[in-house]
Amino acid sequence: MSLGLTLPKAELHLHIEGTIEPELVFGLARRNGVELPFATVDDLRRRYVFDDLQSFLDLYYLSMAVLRTAQDFTDLTDAYLAKAREQGVRHAEIFFDPQAHVSRGVPLAEVLTGLTESLRTSRERFGISTRLIACFLRDLGPQEALATWETLQPHLEHIDGIGLDSAEVGHPPQLFEPVFTRAREAGLHVVAHAGEEGPPEYVWQAIDVLGVERVDHGIRSVEDGALLKRLAADRTPLTVCPLSNVRLRCVPELSRHPLPRLLEAGVLVTINSDDPSYFGGYVGENFTALQEALKLDDSVLRQFAADSFRASFLPEAERDALI
Ligand code: ADE
Ligand code: ZN
Repeated sequence: MSLGLTLPKAELHLHIEGTIEPELVFGLARRNGVELPFATVDDLRRRYVFDDLQSFLDLYYLSMAVLRTAQDFTDLTDAYLAKAREQGVRHAEIFFDPQAHVSRGVPLAEVLTGLTESLRTSRERFGISTRLIACFLRDLGPQEALATWETLQPHLEHIDGIGLDSAEVGHPPQLFEPVFTRAREAGLHVVAHAGEEGPPEYVWQAIDVLGVERVDHGIRSVEDGALLKRLAADRTPLTVCPLSNVRLRCVPELSRHPLPRLLEAGVLVTINSDDPSYFGGYVGENFTALQEALKLDDSVLRQFAADSFRASFLPEAERDALI
């Protein structure tokens, strides 16, 4: 097996809803009596060709409609953890989208019961420690985010951080300052997607206005030298998702990924899978595809793996034990 697959690593940018494989979509549709607009598993898989972030999000929200019960969320998370273990993952910080479920009539308590039932025993069953990060859908706006923050209050014991995702352009991070301030004051970790399709200005806002500890994607930072200097000086990690960037056409091909320019600027970069069911690979496959396309030395892969633990929200002693 290749080094990219076997290296012990942390996954820090993973949407649990983006791990649903077509077979599970059909299995849960049958179990829950949900009618799907696709005839077969192959028919669904053939649609995994995207023009941009929005064309992906349309299918992502459509397919997650099969997730209805706590058991569905447990099965989804168990399937991800089993796969992640095969890819060397020892620690996973997992995103979920509360609004995408509540808006379909699935209670937040049902979602969290299902997720935590799986995560509770992840370390014993899969050798993977975990954290859970609730993301706000930026295209629903800051008022909805605040309302969702209120609904999260009874469940904060299960939630380690908040994030910001979904359609980026036209939804700048600064709009979400009130909810991020509340989350920081409550002692939660804060991260945000920025600079995936959106401009470097959004990355500035994520760090300066939201006070994020990591930037999710952040690849368009390469367009702004001052921003690269700032990210490098502060050691603010970017959770880069190479296969996602190519599939969503943020980058024309893997061999032209801006990652080498981020590394040259001294930015702390981690490698992640984003929505692995949709983008053709889990995190280990992101490592191996990137190594092949960019002709990276094994030492660079080892650096990514070590930095994934350094950029995690694990306490220092646990982090050091994994590096
Ligand atoms: N939600 C799931 N995947 C996402 C991505 N790559 N960007 C923004 N929102 C997302
Ligand atoms: Zn993402």
